[in-house]
Amino acid sequence: MQAWMDILLLIFAGFWLMLPAFLPNSAAVIFGGGKPVDLGRTWKGKRIFGDGKTWTGFIGGITAGIFLGIVQMMLALNFDPNGLWGFAPFPQALGVITALACGSLLGDLCGSFIKRRLGIERGDKAAGLDQFNFIVGALLLTALLFPSWVYANFLQGDHWISLLAILIITPLLHRGVNIIGYKIGLKKVPW
Ligand code: CTP
Ligand code: MG
Repeated sequence: MQAWMDILLLIFAGFWLMLPAFLPNSAAVIFGGGKPVDLGRTWKGKRIFGDGKTWTGFIGGITAGIFLGIVQMMLALNFDPNGLWGFAPFPQALGVITALACGSLLGDLCGSFIKRRLGIERGDKAAGLDQFNFIVGALLLTALLFPSWVYANFLQGDHWISLLAILIITPLLHRGVNIIGYKIGLKKVPW
């Protein structure tokens, strides 16, 4: 019984700590619509990123992720100052949250860069890439800047369970949120 509780806690903690990386992806859909990041430029005859990556989506998404992280940080400070739910001791937590949010949309940008190089049009499916680009980007950038935080929360001891959990949850959540976005008319396609 105790073991199951521990596993559930690790799953929930992984999800909680990744929220500042999850939100930017959805928020970008809401804030998008402005100038494309590549300003229409091409490389070897194909768009660098394409019209699906805009400055307002990028900046708005990152801001939303950082904002959510700060709210989470303040909640955690109240009920669990240094435990599982904290991003790190303050002020490092701000850095971790920023790295998660920026890494998420930089990963998303890299994903589109790869899609364009492969000749996949804006909005067309790229299985695997679409679902994991932002989470891999967030983990890589955060691991680069705050390796001990990533190690402690996603690798050390039982914490590989948190990592496995987010790798399983991410494609499911991505699909679910995109179906909702499609139904309420925010997205043109349900993926
Ligand atoms: N979006 C944005 N700016 C970003 C990321 C996303 O404006 N940096 C908005 C765009 O309106 C985009 C939508 O969110 O169409 C959905 O994002 P995503 O699925 O990542 O883009 P796609 O349109 O599918 O483009 P791509 O094929 O390049 O992934
Ligand atoms: Mg897409």
